[in-house]
Amino acid sequence: MTSNSGEQTTTIVIFGASGDLTRRKLIPSLCSLFCKGRLGPVVQIVGMARRDMTSEQYRESLAEGMGDFEDFSPEMEEWTEFASRIHYFRGDVASASALQGLEEFLKGIEAPGKPANRLYYLALAPSLYGPAVLNLGATGMAGATGAWRRVVIEKPFGSDLASAQALNKSIHSVFSEDQVFRIDHYLGKETVQNLLVLRFANTIFEPVWNRNYIDNVQITVSETVALSDRAGYYDQAGVFRDMFQNHLLQLLTVVAMEPPSNFQADLLRNEKVKVLNAVRRVTPETAPEIAVHAQYDGYLDEQGVPADSRTPTYAAVRMDVDNWRWQGVPFYLRSGKALDDKRTEIVIQFKRPPHLMFQQEIGPNILAIQVQPDEGLHIEFQAKTPDEKMQMRPVDLEFHYDDSFGGQAIPDAYERLLLDALNGDASLFIRSDEIEEAWEIMDPIIQGLARSEAPLPAGYAIGSRGPDEADRFLAKYGSAWLHRDWQH
Ligand SMILES: NC(=O)c1ccc[n+]([C@@H]2O[C@H](COP(=O)([O-])OP(=O)(O)OC[C@H]3O[C@@H](n4cnc5c(N)ncnc54)[C@H](OP(=O)(O)O)[C@@H]3O)[C@@H](O)[C@H]2O)c1
Repeated sequence: MTSNSGEQTTTIVIFGASGDLTRRKLIPSLCSLFCKGRLGPVVQIVGMARRDMTSEQYRESLAEGMGDFEDFSPEMEEWTEFASRIHYFRGDVASASALQGLEEFLKGIEAPGKPANRLYYLALAPSLYGPAVLNLGATGMAGATGAWRRVVIEKPFGSDLASAQALNKSIHSVFSEDQVFRIDHYLGKETVQNLLVLRFANTIFEPVWNRNYIDNVQITVSETVALSDRAGYYDQAGVFRDMFQNHLLQLLTVVAMEPPSNFQADLLRNEKVKVLNAVRRVTPETAPEIAVHAQYDGYLDEQGVPADSRTPTYAAVRMDVDNWRWQGVPFYLRSGKALDDKRTEIVIQFKRPPHLMFQQEIGPNILAIQVQPDEGLHIEFQAKTPDEKMQMRPVDLEFHYDDSFGGQAIPDAYERLLLDALNGDASLFIRSDEIEEAWEIMDPIIQGLARSEAPLPAGYAIGSRGPDEADRFLAKYGSAWLHRDWQH
């Protein structure tokens, strides 16, 4: 399809066209953007993978994937219109000649005489990020006069600091940093962006957002599923690489950062880098002092997991942010598989009042931000029980997206991120220095807990809250995990 409107066309090239991410996230998000009229007038989508199929078969396979959405039908007019913009090109991204063929194919469908903008999305195994980028460079596809070229890179970005640096080096040999969009889809979640709004568009939170009022911060990403057939693959990574280096540290930076003077990508990211830079470093020798690790019962029996694996499926870590605002306030981060609850939550536990004139022990104020599910927040405070003497009990003020915005659906994080990448807004993407700082924090922890001198991973029952060691770990610092079954 070519443009006859004279407007600049944009092509989204998805490498890894037939994969799970493309089917479950990218195509549904692009389709939703298209239906909302946000994709721009002339956008085409080209998927590339090695298997043999025609564009027609490709569209059919994507429509099957869309069948997971209740209100979808392949006969829908919007889908027919959207699908007519999707093409399939067969090829191996690791082969420069295949990319040369792709370039010819793209030129054939893009408006002649006017270069199209291009967003390259690497929905590929991480080992292919480097070869794909280098081949885009070798075939001259990374730049064009009069049009932009951008590349979106999925997680995981490296498996340690050295590999992340090497990958950044390869990428920068082809693309400049402002062309690169490294994804952490947590940043695309409305509740995470709302945290910025909560902090920086309200006057009531920021004055107490510091060491004078906050006792500790707890960030939890828990999942109920065990690993089963993915265990062999997961064993190469473990929870620190899978969750801490990216999602948990990203959430920490958004909680802890200073307000940028302006909501501009680089100013925002500068502040996030400063937080990572201030996170206290440990050595492999001292890492076990600030972290516990564990495996769910039966993990070592999963297929593909070595019997002596020390790869954690659960971990809890204390981090300290050594700056004026956060000195002495522990950030407790935890994440695990096969737990009792699927939730992502940020809990701010405030200090108790300095003096209690009431004859009753009370808990501290709590602000709990539910990133997922049931997106919203709760503020817990003390109230007098009616018709009794001075008795208090905690009560809950709550905000939920579905109540407050008339049941308006919350878009998938990928929808927001794809749109931002198309618009060239990198605010919610990770900059190269940010990713390297995050690895610099995590490397000694990962190495330290893998050492034979470190305690073996603890065990925990499937469907439990995690190991008892995680409770004892917090008790050591005079804290306790907050477990609230918030009623809504
Ligand atoms: N799935 C998710 O929900 C999710 C979430 C977050 C991040 N990610 C990240 O996204 C990336 C993709 O994940 P995925 O789950 O979609 O993987 P996947 O299901 O294994 O899909 C991989 C895709 O890459 C294609 N491919 C493999 N080798 C290729 C080559 N040499 N040249 C061209 N295409 C090739 C495969 O098709 P052929 O075999 O036909 O070539 C397939 O389409 C990974 O880095 C993953 O970590 C995924």
